[in-house]
Amino acid sequence: MKALILVGGFGTRLRPLTLSVPKPLVEFANKPMILHQIEALKAIGVTEVVLAINYQPEVMLNFLKEFETKLGIKITCSQETEPLGTAGPLALARDNLVDDSGEPFFVLNSDVISEYPLQEMIDFHKSHGGEASILVTKVDEPSKYGVVVMEESTGQVERFVEKPKVFVGNKINAGIYLLNPSVLDRIELRPTSIEKEVFPNIAAEKKLYAMVLPGFWMDIGQPRDYITGLRLYLDSLKKKSSPKLAFGPHIIGNVLVDESAKIGEGCLIGPDVAIGSGCIVESGVRLSRCTIMRGVRVKKHACISSSIIGWHSTVGQWARVENMTILGEDVHVCDEIYSNGGVVLPHKEIKSSILNPEIVM
Ligand code: GDD
Ligand code: MG
Repeated sequence: MKALILVGGFGTRLRPLTLSVPKPLVEFANKPMILHQIEALKAIGVTEVVLAINYQPEVMLNFLKEFETKLGIKITCSQETEPLGTAGPLALARDNLVDDSGEPFFVLNSDVISEYPLQEMIDFHKSHGGEASILVTKVDEPSKYGVVVMEESTGQVERFVEKPKVFVGNKINAGIYLLNPSVLDRIELRPTSIEKEVFPNIAAEKKLYAMVLPGFWMDIGQPRDYITGLRLYLDSLKKKSSPKLAFGPHIIGNVLVDESAKIGEGCLIGPDVAIGSGCIVESGVRLSRCTIMRGVRVKKHACISSSIIGWHSTVGQWARVENMTILGEDVHVCDEIYSNGGVVLPHKEIKSSILNPEIVM
């Protein structure tokens, strides 16, 4: 079985992290986003993943080479010379996706995190006999997604409305599809949107079916949602009694600590924290609802909450970093500094406090 991951786009909403690596390689819960997806695909028997990409393919391929052998899965790139949207890339990769078996293939948005119920999706797809299956989930704010109106008992989709201006429903497209090869006959090789141009047509012919996703889901392409997504992900690990979660007197709630990270005396860590490889957290530090990426040093008595600290940065003694502060790669926050929602570009030194949310270039 094959799969295509839509990797295009510059990931602007996740800057400054995406100034250092393409969005799918930004770690989420100590693992590049895209690896969560590739591992889930591998687990249900996918043998080849095509990355539909229009930006920095070398960086992605170099990085993923190692995982091709480790995971035993073929990873190829289908590169666009102009952005082809969310459907055009399928037409471009047509020869990679279809073989004599006539099997359906998976398509994934690269920035969604969930339990990936892919086997359930295969069973669902077989049971309804339609042309395409999509996963849907309920959200409170549907306007920033694709909204699906479906017949509850069968899952048959009546309408698909991308980013609706008026309320049509609260079940949204989760960005995970299983498509018959015949769907490719509906797509031309030009910039096109699967959400606006392809799904509405399949729905009109009553051949589009939706399965409600069991468990959590989040599009983690923006900092606030990324931090919420980490909470949901760690919560799901907790429900599965995962041995990956840290425990001990200094841990509160759900926390991931890479085994190579060092935690000092008297720290209080959690809830909803991920600490990456090689990090040094000195004594008396307080961390909650945050991600500390690979190679970061957090000095004594610093306090970090609701923030993301980019690779190889340092946070000084008694510094206080909070309220959606996002530090790019290799940022140095001096001792006793306060950051309230600062978004700091890579390689900066922060010598004076950031009192209100602002971008520091
Ligand atoms: N190869 C390629 N080329 N990929 C692209 C392009 C392109 O031109 N444009 C976007 N993508 C990829 C993005 O990298 C992402 O993985 C996916 O297509 C969806 O694009 P987003 O920009 O993240 O869309 P969105 O979040 O506003 O909306 C989409 O996702 C929602 C769920 O998170 C839609 O599919 C909505 O219907 C859906 O609800
Ligand atoms: Mg998105």
